[in-house]
Amino acid sequence: MRVLGIETSCDETGVAIYDTERGLLAHRLFSQIALHAEYGGVVPELASRDHIQRVLPLIHETLAAANLSLSELDGIAYTAGPGLIGALLVGASIARALAWGLSIPAVGVHHMEGHLLAPMLEANPPSLPFVALLVSGGHTLLVDVPRIGQYEVLGESIDDAAGEAFDKTAKLLGLAYPGGPLLAKLATQGQAGVYHFKRPMVDRPGCDFSFSGLKTAALTAWQQSTQTEQDKANIAYAFEEAVVDTLFIKCRRALEQTKRPTLVVAGGVGANRKLRERLNDLKAQVFFPRLEFCTDNGAMIAYAGALRLQAGAAELPIIQARPRWPLVELEAI
Ligand code: KG4
Ligand code: ZN
Repeated sequence: MRVLGIETSCDETGVAIYDTERGLLAHRLFSQIALHAEYGGVVPELASRDHIQRVLPLIHETLAAANLSLSELDGIAYTAGPGLIGALLVGASIARALAWGLSIPAVGVHHMEGHLLAPMLEANPPSLPFVALLVSGGHTLLVDVPRIGQYEVLGESIDDAAGEAFDKTAKLLGLAYPGGPLLAKLATQGQAGVYHFKRPMVDRPGCDFSFSGLKTAALTAWQQSTQTEQDKANIAYAFEEAVVDTLFIKCRRALEQTKRPTLVVAGGVGANRKLRERLNDLKAQVFFPRLEFCTDNGAMIAYAGALRLQAGAAELPIIQARPRWPLVELEAI
């Protein structure tokens, strides 16, 4: 089964074709970073309008790269939520229209299920059951995964997501958008031991997170410093250390609690080098997607959709998107 995947939930237009026998055939991405940079964050209406312009050319490019025509597709998968409603509706509309025109099924994919399954696209995929750490700009979740589609949330952020904390702290330190990767880069110039930020919520039982206090701690440190470039790098270093250490502690706890032998890490913050290094210290097998599939992409949506279509997912041909959509509402496949 050959499935076209379309991702338009935020500021990246991603398209891919996944073949259940041959694997990933082609994938293309257009990032809107330059479009939103001058506003310091994603402007939802601009995002929707740009998806409209990008999605069809990207579909044609991806088909050409896979040496396929539209008539050779067997199904379409699109991100149906969570995300920005206008942006989601672009992907949902084009997917439904194409499926209708081609008389093939379409399925709405949960964006976080897409992230969670992204490590399955690698040559050495994890086997089930596992614990998943999902760390993106909108979510920080620890999830127990006994089987695909059955997700038990072990812990989540009670305020900012990890990526959001990276982005907001970067902004406070005067870095450009999107701040996460820039803050991580700046942290490589920082000195260890100059600042130390408390690891939030590690002294409480459970696997929930709270990252908003770290952002305030970083701001206070910056305001009380002499505000040199080295101060900034030292604060970035301490902030990244605190986030990574907190994620490490909670992952260790989730693995102990569930007795699962495997941890899967996904979502944009999963691209963070420090986090990848540190989580490899866990007494578990740890799986990450390749860097380009940590952040938003069409491949993870094509893959997750292919699994659901293969399992017989059937949906009414109506254009639907859900800006909020709890992961636990999904059905096991
Ligand atoms: O998964 P993603 O592409 O989009 C969402 O679904 O939110 O994640 C984007 C988030 C942003 O907050 C971005 O700053 C963060 O992931 N991010 C990073 C790094 N690369 C991306 N954060 C820290 N270090 C990185 N290297
Ligand atoms: Zn995402």
